[in-house]
Amino acid sequence: MEIRKDMLPVLKPHGGEEEIQAIREVIESGWWGKGPKVAEFEEKFAKMVGAKYAIAVTSASHGQDLVMKAADWKGIDVINPAISFIATAIIPLWNGFTSNIVDVKRDTLCIDPEDVERYKKPNSELLIAVNEAGVPCDYKELRKKFGGFILEDTAHSCWTPGAGQSGDCAVWSFQAVKTMPMGDGGMITTDDKWLADRCREMTWFGVSSTWSRTQSTTGKPGYAWDYQVDILGYKYYMIDIMAAIGLEQMKKLPKHLEFRRHIQSRYNKELHAIIERPPHSETVQYYCPRVSANHRDELIDYLADKKIHTSVHFKPLYKYTPLKQDREYPVCETEWIKLISLPCHNNMKDEDIDYVVYWVNKYFEENY
Ligand SMILES: Cc1ncc(COP(=O)(O)O)c(C=O)c1O
Repeated sequence: MEIRKDMLPVLKPHGGEEEIQAIREVIESGWWGKGPKVAEFEEKFAKMVGAKYAIAVTSASHGQDLVMKAADWKGIDVINPAISFIATAIIPLWNGFTSNIVDVKRDTLCIDPEDVERYKKPNSELLIAVNEAGVPCDYKELRKKFGGFILEDTAHSCWTPGAGQSGDCAVWSFQAVKTMPMGDGGMITTDDKWLADRCREMTWFGVSSTWSRTQSTTGKPGYAWDYQVDILGYKYYMIDIMAAIGLEQMKKLPKHLEFRRHIQSRYNKELHAIIERPPHSETVQYYCPRVSANHRDELIDYLADKKIHTSVHFKPLYKYTPLKQDREYPVCETEWIKLISLPCHNNMKDEDIDYVVYWVNKYFEENY
């Protein structure tokens, strides 16, 4: 097969005229900050995922940080899976907490409840359960082994039925290459009114939103300029320009996920038999099969040479200097070096899938 001219990206957001028109309307409305579009996005998102409350924020990272600040824990230990994006284990450090990284299960690469039980500490109050590549953690076992607060990291699970309903809260990401991309953005969802109210108040220094103060409830005309601040807050709220993109992406989400599952199913059927298939994902945030550790890095270079970008989701967190741990990780250590993420996004066509399958298979035909 002839080598293509342009690089096939491993991940890429897909948008078009609908998003451009939605942004134009917000710009022309004169209300660019947090306003009616954010309120509409929060309401529709809460309904979609079946949560009582949804609070839109600047990113999932800020959403996780806000939950930690709102819950008002002091000096706690936070349990994290070894396979995750660095955000989940660094954010506890922002808050003066410790990050206690535990091993993952071999099949799903999600946090291992047995290892949680083995390594939890008396002050382990919070556990971050990452649904790796959109595959749910074993929440039933986690609840048996851990009695504290579970933050469900749904950065890769937007949206799969049931996602966000097993933790005490869930934090979603709309970062540029996620399944519902908005450039950047995040959402906290929960059924806990106390937590939701506190998170909402803390998204803007404890100040009630300007938009809400333009919506007079007193019968008096105009804008209520005064506000009281009773809480230490931050500046983490989403703005209408972003929410407008989110509302358009939400309409497209079912079709986008259907196509991602189509890519997953074609890769599963057509890739060389030597390749270990990933567990089924409803969102297919990443398609991460496993190959022999001896071949992984060579395959990455071989595919780059054929203009196919790949990646690794993820390098273990304990390998990063601020997150070093004093223990062994037998499962993670043997599995992560087999991981490779193949192109999977909504800009791909069937010919692109053909192209990836052809070159991956050719590599294994030449090397076995
Ligand atoms: C598992 C996981 N959690 C959290 C985040 C942070 O998301 P955001 O970029 O929206 O802050 C990411 C981002 O890739 C992620 O993969």
